[in-house]
Amino acid sequence: MSRAYNFCAGPATLPESVLAQARDEMLDWRGTGMSVMEMSHRSDEFVEIAEMAEQDLRELAGISDDYAVLFMQGGASSQFSTIPLNLLGEKTSADYVNTGIWSKKAIAEAKRYADVNVVASSEEGGFASIPDQASWQTSTDAAYLHYTPNETIGGLEYDFIPDSGSVPLVADMSSTMLSRPVDVSKFGLIYAGAQKNIGPSGLVVVIIRKDLLGKARKETPTMMNYQVIADNGSMYNTPATYSWYLAGLVFKWLKAQGGVKAMGEINRRKAEKLYDFIDVNEFYANPIDPRFRSWMNIPFTLQDDTLNSAFLEGAGARGLLNLAGHRSVGGMRASIYNAMPEAGVDALIQYMADFAKERG
Ligand SMILES: Cc1ncc(COP(=O)(O)O)c(C=O)c1O
Repeated sequence: MSRAYNFCAGPATLPESVLAQARDEMLDWRGTGMSVMEMSHRSDEFVEIAEMAEQDLRELAGISDDYAVLFMQGGASSQFSTIPLNLLGEKTSADYVNTGIWSKKAIAEAKRYADVNVVASSEEGGFASIPDQASWQTSTDAAYLHYTPNETIGGLEYDFIPDSGSVPLVADMSSTMLSRPVDVSKFGLIYAGAQKNIGPSGLVVVIIRKDLLGKARKETPTMMNYQVIADNGSMYNTPATYSWYLAGLVFKWLKAQGGVKAMGEINRRKAEKLYDFIDVNEFYANPIDPRFRSWMNIPFTLQDDTLNSAFLEGAGARGLLNLAGHRSVGGMRASIYNAMPEAGVDALIQYMADFAKERG
């Protein structure tokens, strides 16, 4: 069996050694005679798996005891409503920055619960840049300031953490979590759908400053109430046990790679290689302001888009999969999360060079 290089934006490629370990432990987890999938979430064995995953995540991301770490379900999208329901408290408005499709989805959902103030938007410029923070029309009355540090579809990534003053800063880190060091203490809440840098889809990791717990609106569904989830160790109901276990294996793998600092250096190198190639080869183009180019998701277009299908077909023949851009934007996109080996990026660049030579 040979593994392809899978450039999917999510669910995304996982480290091969993690999948191999999961395979080896599939039928009998450490002499228990059962798979993790079959274990009671209340069993000592699973509680150990769950606690170890949280501890490793805390260590990797530098999360202090001032924060609760929650392993929730429903993906990142469910957080678009969970956040306003929990964080508005007595307030009625929240600030949002609009930098792409995921920001827009978060904004649309928040509007069901809050007066949403879009403090800045790069929509007019086709979401090719991040508006200068000096121009943001923030309000000190806002319950929180929400932004999307990495726009997975557009390939646009902040190179700074916004200063939100005393207003809690909320970040959708779905596609950038654990890809480079981040100072968690600057945030009120961080959330990330797991299926890019953490593990299987469905699971969503929420890191919330403890003073923000306990403010949920009365009508908040119990399963969306951060306080309830925190009080019950993310086991108010049956959690996504197998996804949690796999996330734990990914955290162990990340630690063995040298943690997020080492990962950040590798990720920078992988992304720079690909952007450098795109910039010098006139057959390809990337539309994003170079300062804000994503390290994780790299969209690019071909000089002649009638060649898109041929490009994808040739890529598939070389085991380079899922390079089509998001259906809403077209073109191509290479998602190169932590688990994409540098050799995968090299193979992609080699293919792009060969294709341009042949068809350019
Ligand atoms: C930045 C960002 N936010 C939210 C989501 C939605 O995640 P989910 O499908 O887990 O709801 C995605 C998914 O790709 C994403 O990239």
